[in-house]
Amino acid sequence: MTTRRTDPADANAAAAEPAAGERFEAARAAFVAGVQAFEGGEAERAETLFLEALRLVPGRPSALINLAAVRQRLGRPAEALPALDEALAAAPDDAAAWFQHGQLLQVLQRPHDALRSYERVLALEPAQAAAWTQRGSLLKDMGRHTEAAQCFRQALANGGDAELNRYFLASVERAPAAGGAPREAPGSAPRHYVEQLFDSYADGFDEHLVGKLGYRTPWLIAEMVLGRPDGAPRHWRAALDLGCGTGLMGPLLAPHCEALDGVDLSSQMLAKAAALGRYRHLVHADIAEHLQGTGERYGLVVAADVFVYVGDLDAVFAGVARVLDGDGTFVFSVEEAAAGVPRYELRASSRYAHAETYLRELAAARGFEPADLRRTTIRHEQRQPIGGLLVVLRRR
Ligand SMILES: C[S@@+](CC[C@H](N)C(=O)[O-])C[C@H]1O[C@@H](n2cnc3c(N)ncnc32)[C@H](O)[C@@H]1O
Repeated sequence: MTTRRTDPADANAAAAEPAAGERFEAARAAFVAGVQAFEGGEAERAETLFLEALRLVPGRPSALINLAAVRQRLGRPAEALPALDEALAAAPDDAAAWFQHGQLLQVLQRPHDALRSYERVLALEPAQAAAWTQRGSLLKDMGRHTEAAQCFRQALANGGDAELNRYFLASVERAPAAGGAPREAPGSAPRHYVEQLFDSYADGFDEHLVGKLGYRTPWLIAEMVLGRPDGAPRHWRAALDLGCGTGLMGPLLAPHCEALDGVDLSSQMLAKAAALGRYRHLVHADIAEHLQGTGERYGLVVAADVFVYVGDLDAVFAGVARVLDGDGTFVFSVEEAAAGVPRYELRASSRYAHAETYLRELAAARGFEPADLRRTTIRHEQRQPIGGLLVVLRRR
């Protein structure tokens, strides 16, 4: 979220009303101090200063826009909206403010209103690549895939984030007609996309996924690997949690190993995991890179709901084969691809789904064999169950 540093109208207004000059000067000083406070990370002080500027000179769009931005930063989006609405009523041609309006409405879970805001941006600035991307993402989530694809193409044509827009485009482009060459999706989700997505999701992750979407994968995985046929609990010297997120696996695994490490791309998710106090090391890295570089060795490697962001799993399987002890266990979940998909597909949900045959081929190529494979509901999307696989591999 950016700040508005100046409002040219301030100077004009002061000149037009010399008697009010002092008030305008004081308002401008409060405004400038507010911008500095905001940029210096003092959001509460910035809010007070913008309110003071508005008390002295009501209705200034620049102060209202910054007030909205600061309230959004403070986690009060519902209070930000009236300020932004007021600013836009006074300055309806401000494309940047309409963009901010769209983002705010997305936070407030009002996708149809947000779509209208991005359309206002594009009516004012048709080459605004970021607005095309946002509009495309909203249309994609509404199931309007053809229109969404057009938006991502526009974003690319106007110099938008190439990796991100290609990824989104691949997720909504229809499979080619029979006989056409198969279209290969990118091998994994863009890192900055994953990072941003989960940094912003970290606070509500456990409640949303576990509470609302019925996410049970960590518990199902634990059930599959923790018990032994003789009923005795399993125990490992060291375990690694790939894409550990907020650490839902932590309390389940930590009592069964001397050391538990986690790796994840999102620093905010890692901060939540760290707060549990269940992990020895938490590493901010991509899983494939970490597996290729780490000097640690593990008896158990777990990947719960992280391969939905990694389509091509070759490097990950190679890395797991590298770090896993001779008698080690590798357990993971995937969404299951539609029949006929040879390796993996990127879905409109922006998540990958994998074919069982592909997983078996990868396992065999790296010296693993399936010890257990179960079909289950991985999560719910728009109230529909999403089918997946839970897989336990052991060294052959
Ligand atoms: C849906 S969450 C699952 C978190 C956790 N495993 C659980 O079951 O609660 C997916 C996590 O994987 C992480 N992630 C996705 N792709 C990754 C990658 N290539 N490298 C490292 N972490 C990744 C995300 O940041 C996120 O925290």
